[in-house]
Amino acid sequence: MGSRGVSRGVDLTVCPNGPLLIRGDLGVRTPDGEVHRTERPVSAVCRCGKSASLPWCDATHQALKTKIDEEGSADE
Ligand code: FES
Repeated sequence: MGSRGVSRGVDLTVCPNGPLLIRGDLGVRTPDGEVHRTERPVSAVCRCGKSASLPWCDATHQALKTKIDEEGSADE
């Protein structure tokens, strides 16, 4: 929901071998059921699973030079 209670929609961008960029207010529900909310203009959701700030990307994928396949999991 936007600041006035109106849903603004969400725009997704898949970065090759990197995070999923999300534009818009959202919540990311992790497997343990916790919802991580963000109202940042752009949020980066980790796809490699190696971030120290899961579910958010902390750029660890760049140091690991992992290749993230099309299903979103990382090769090691
Ligand atoms: S995609 Fe960036 S740390 Fe995982």
